[in-house]
Amino acid sequence: MSDFFSKRLSGLKPYVPGEQPKNIRNLVKLNTNENPFPPSPEAVKAGKAALKKLNLYSDPDASALKKAIADSLNVGRENVAVFNGSDEALAFFFAGFCDDGAVINDITYGFYKVFAMFYGVETTVVPLKEDFTVSVEDYADKKGTVFIANPNAPTGIALGTESIAALSLQNPARLVVVDEAYVDFGAESAVKILKDRPNVAVVRTFSKSRSLAGGRLGFVISSEEIIADLEKVRNSFNPYNVNSVTLAMGEAAIKDRKYFEMTRQTVIKNRAVLTAGLEKLGFKVLDSRANFIFASPPDKDGKRFYSSLRERGVLVRYWDEGRLSAFCRITVGDEKAVGTLIACAEEIYGR
Ligand SMILES: Cc1ncc(COP(=O)(O)O)c(C=O)c1O
Repeated sequence: MSDFFSKRLSGLKPYVPGEQPKNIRNLVKLNTNENPFPPSPEAVKAGKAALKKLNLYSDPDASALKKAIADSLNVGRENVAVFNGSDEALAFFFAGFCDDGAVINDITYGFYKVFAMFYGVETTVVPLKEDFTVSVEDYADKKGTVFIANPNAPTGIALGTESIAALSLQNPARLVVVDEAYVDFGAESAVKILKDRPNVAVVRTFSKSRSLAGGRLGFVISSEEIIADLEKVRNSFNPYNVNSVTLAMGEAAIKDRKYFEMTRQTVIKNRAVLTAGLEKLGFKVLDSRANFIFASPPDKDGKRFYSSLRERGVLVRYWDEGRLSAFCRITVGDEKAVGTLIACAEEIYGR
């Protein structure tokens, strides 16, 4: 550490993203929950056209994209704000909406803890139940903004909308931020309760179901007031937070419903094949509504499974942490990748 770095940040433990190997030619990469399909051809076309206008700043209001998102979800334009990936939106919630602290699960998206540390937000951790599900009652007496990933990561387990409504009703003075990064792969969205629940905000991303992880695009849907507050934070940080190529690609991707349906249904189908293949070999697989599964091998040794797959050129994600260590998180790939994963598991654990 240099002599010049802030003492407040000296203990910062940054988020560690899944490995992004430089040479992926011979690797099956199932470790960062990317979509196996490329972006919509319409999005690629729009991105190419936008390249020619990179001499100009991007639209700081993201008007066309906001309209496309609002129309697709049947909300008003004033209920939408867009960000450089949903990580940026989440960071802004920690920066601007956590005077009373934050409340998170013990097992959830790892970045929440990092944002809390970065912005000096006191955090209350609520343990998940033994079966990795959320106990809504455990939140009743907790103060601070609730951050809940739904479906959760890395378990893939989803909460019903009634549970999100219950969390928000427990304390109408407490904000509930629902991180729906994976919602399009089979979970229920809280967007439909936003009109009745003004203390709920939904965070979404284009990284997963719209195949635009590298484009860095996320958005928030919430009340006009919360969106105006978020815009205040965004415009105090980086008004041109989303580049114009990504804005154009996002708008086209939202409008290309056919491609979206085709790709997401294929991922859902591949998830079922992957789950069934592993269950046949004695794996325990949690009920996933995401584009990944959380699977524990027959010997409950997640590390051995991770290492044995790696030796075979297959990358998945493993955490050497408490009850997570019995599992690996495996991104649902294309048909070929699913076949390779199952074949490797058969080799490692026998038929
Ligand atoms: C639960 C969850 N929320 C948010 C994100 C961040 O996504 P983005 O690429 O939009 O920043 C991820 C990324 O994997 C995630 O797993």
